[in-house]
Amino acid sequence: MSHFFFHGADTVELAGTYGTPLYVVSEDEITARIREIKSRFDGRHERCHTHFAAKAFLTKDMLRILKREGVGLDVVSGGELYLAREMGFPADEIAFHGNSKTEREISEGLGYGVGKFVCDSLDEIKLIDEMARSRGACPRVLIRVNPGVEGNTHPHMLTSGGRTKFGLPPDLLRQAAAECMALQNVTAAGLHFHVGSQLMDPETHLEALDILLGIIKALRDEMGFETEILDMGGGFGVAYTPADKPARIDDFMTPMVTRAEEFCAANGLARPDLIIEPGRYIAGPSGITLYTVESVKEIPGVTTYAGVDGGYPDNPRPALYEAVYDAVIANKYGADAAPVKNVTLAGKCCESGDVVIRDIMLPDIERGDIVAVLCTGAYCHSMANNYNKNPIPAIVMIKDGTPRLSVRRQTYRDIYACDMT
Ligand code: LLP
Repeated sequence: MSHFFFHGADTVELAGTYGTPLYVVSEDEITARIREIKSRFDGRHERCHTHFAAKAFLTKDMLRILKREGVGLDVVSGGELYLAREMGFPADEIAFHGNSKTEREISEGLGYGVGKFVCDSLDEIKLIDEMARSRGACPRVLIRVNPGVEGNTHPHMLTSGGRTKFGLPPDLLRQAAAECMALQNVTAAGLHFHVGSQLMDPETHLEALDILLGIIKALRDEMGFETEILDMGGGFGVAYTPADKPARIDDFMTPMVTRAEEFCAANGLARPDLIIEPGRYIAGPSGITLYTVESVKEIPGVTTYAGVDGGYPDNPRPALYEAVYDAVIANKYGADAAPVKNVTLAGKCCESGDVVIRDIMLPDIERGDIVAVLCTGAYCHSMANNYNKNPIPAIVMIKDGTPRLSVRRQTYRDIYACDMT
């Protein structure tokens, strides 16, 4: 039986060298996915620009790659902005999102001179205006619209529709646009929408875009509001298992840009600059997680539980979204390692919901095996937590087949570093 290699690196060796659980991320894959999107969007159409959604995966190395590849950044907190600033990420390339920004965060955004604030309420717009006035600034503002379209995804990954907390419905939007135009210390630059995440086909993006285009025209006709920038969010789905069949990125990009162009031409509007903000599409398939099997427990008539040394703390997605993953046994890989057993990969937390994968067919699994869970590059490290006081795993980054420690493993001391007594 052979070993499972990830982008040229032997994952069993990685587990031995760096320990488990371990996030393994391919710089080459991230770069390739960025270049694919940029060639289909930024490169193919004028005044189109890709931002990366930092919430999907944010480390110093990631920011270094994004800077090198000329990608902008979507941040949603002072914490994300902090690292961007530390790494000298160009302020003008940053869009500051978030439905509940604090005064401190707005102040930090103004202090760094972020390119745009994406505003979610009238209160926020007024606060930014007030805070910008005292600094003699006039930041660009995009207003987040809730187009009301519901994408086909897990309810917790929906960010548009009747019950979402995000954005303003069309009526409130009119009020916000009027306010924006009247205020002296914000520049009304445009609109933003994001339908939801992990969407497998472009249907709802296009539906939402049509609604937005109608709004853009109405705002221009009714109040002279010019939409110079239209940010169309992210949400482009990836395949977590072979059963997932996401549309190609081109199937999203081409109709979206074409539709915007045709509508604007037909209605005497200048086509706004277009932005997209993918997170998962770039980071998700670029990473895997390695675990060690600590125990195997066969419950007759139920299942075989293989307990691993991680789970909820490094990947809360199965518990939060019923997310389904695929996995291989890294030290039993290849044609002669046939799947023979239905297994439930159990996480290590005192939490019934902490199951990494339910019902997966694997080769004969034993204590000491190394399991690689696939497609964990997005929303795993960024959502990692210390539940049961488990340290957050290290990240190893692979470039040209060579691994390198990118983020070290937390120590027990790190976990308690803020305790004052
Ligand atoms: N732009 C905005 C305004 C967003 O709210 C999001 C995701 C994105 C871009 C990036 O979406 P992506 O291309 O990655 O789908 N924690 C959840 C995902 C929540 C995403 C929320 N917003 C998960 O683990 O699936």
